[in-house]
Amino acid sequence: MLIEEIKEHANRISETVISYRRHLHAHPELSFKEYETSAFIKERLNELEIEWQPMAGTGVVALIKGEQSSDKVIALRADIDALPVTEANAVSYASQNNGVMHACGHDVHTSSLLGTASILQSIKHRFAGTVKLIFQPAEEVLPGGAGIMIKEGVLDNPKPAAVFGQHVSPFIEAGKIGIRKGKFMASMDEIFVIIRGRGGHGAQPHRNIDPVMIAAQMLVGLQQVVSRIANPTMPTVLSFGKVIANGAINIIPDEVYMEGTFRTLDEKWREEAHERMKKMATGISESMGGSCDFTISKGYPYLVNDERLTEQVSAYAEEYLGKENVEAADIWMAAEDFARYSQLTPSCFYLIGVGNKEKGITSSLHTPTFNIDESSLVFSTGLMAYIAIKQLGN
Ligand code: NI
Repeated sequence: MLIEEIKEHANRISETVISYRRHLHAHPELSFKEYETSAFIKERLNELEIEWQPMAGTGVVALIKGEQSSDKVIALRADIDALPVTEANAVSYASQNNGVMHACGHDVHTSSLLGTASILQSIKHRFAGTVKLIFQPAEEVLPGGAGIMIKEGVLDNPKPAAVFGQHVSPFIEAGKIGIRKGKFMASMDEIFVIIRGRGGHGAQPHRNIDPVMIAAQMLVGLQQVVSRIANPTMPTVLSFGKVIANGAINIIPDEVYMEGTFRTLDEKWREEAHERMKKMATGISESMGGSCDFTISKGYPYLVNDERLTEQVSAYAEEYLGKENVEAADIWMAAEDFARYSQLTPSCFYLIGVGNKEKGITSSLHTPTFNIDESSLVFSTGLMAYIAIKQLGN
C-alpha cells in the first residue's frame, strides 16, 4: 500500500524531477561556489513549503516532520557540486557554464532528493518521525563540505539516528542498485613530492645529481609499499598522475615535481603507510645524493556502511525494486566525503544504477561524455522516500 502510493507519486513527479536535473545539469557550479544551485534548492523547498536553513555557505538543511508523534530522526544526503570538466555531450541541457560539468551526477543526487522531499511532504500525515534533508556543497574538493557541515551542527538538533546517501553508477543499469555492507569506499590522501638534485648538461651525468633518475627509482620503489608491505587482504592503491621534469633533451633539471593519491580502507595501515612512504622516498633520494620534500595531505576517511542498517536498506530495496534489481556492490576505491557522516553516525551509502548499455549510456564518472538514463530518477526518488519512511518505523 505504502509502496504503491510512493511509486504512484514518484511517477507523477518524474517529469518535474527530470526538469530539475536538466536545469542543474545546464547550470553546474564548482565546489564551494554553488550559489545558483543553492538558490534553486531553496526555491523548490519553498514551493513545497518545507522549512530550510543555510549551512556551510552554499549548503541547505531542511526538515520534514511527520504529523504522527515520534522523536526518531533520520537524514538523507545529496551533494550538489560539479567538476572542472568540459562537457562533450550534444544534449539540449548541456552545461552552459564553460569548463564546468556535472560529470559525477551530483545534479542527479540533488534533483532526486528534491523529488523525495516532494513525496515525503505529501504523505507527512501518514508517518511519524522527522526526515532531515542535507544538500551538501563541495564533495569534490578537500576539505569537503561534509566536514564543514558537521562542524556547523548538521548532525545535531535534531540528531539523526542514521544517514542515507546515494551515488549514481553508470556501470549499473537504470532500475537497479548496488549495495555493500561494511567497508565500502576508500580513504584518500594527496601526495606532493619535490625531488631536489643538481641540474646540468645531459652529457656530464657525473657532474650532476639527476632528480629524474631519483624520481624513476622512487616511483618504482614506492609501489613496493603496496605490493610488499601492505597486507594483501587490505585494498591499497598508490597512483602518481603528475610527474614534471622540466629539463630538455640535453638538460638535466634541478628538480622534479610529482603528485599522487594514496587510498586504503584501514586507519592504522593508512598511518603506517604514510610513514613507510616518507621513509622510502627520503632514503632513495639521499642514497642518490639528492633530497626530497614528501608531503601528504590527508583527505577523506574510508566509508563504512553500518551492517544492520545496510541489511535493512537491502531488504527495503528488494521490496521496492524487486529482488533481482538489488546487486551486491564491490569495494570501490573512490573516496567520498559521505564517509565523514559514516564515521560518526550509522550510515548507508548505495549506488543507484543510471547506465543503459542498449542506449549506449556507459561513460564513466568524471568524463566529458558522462550521462545518465533519466528513467533512473523515478527509482532514485521513490526508493529513498521508501527507505526514509521504513527506517522511521512506519
Ligand atoms: Ni560524486
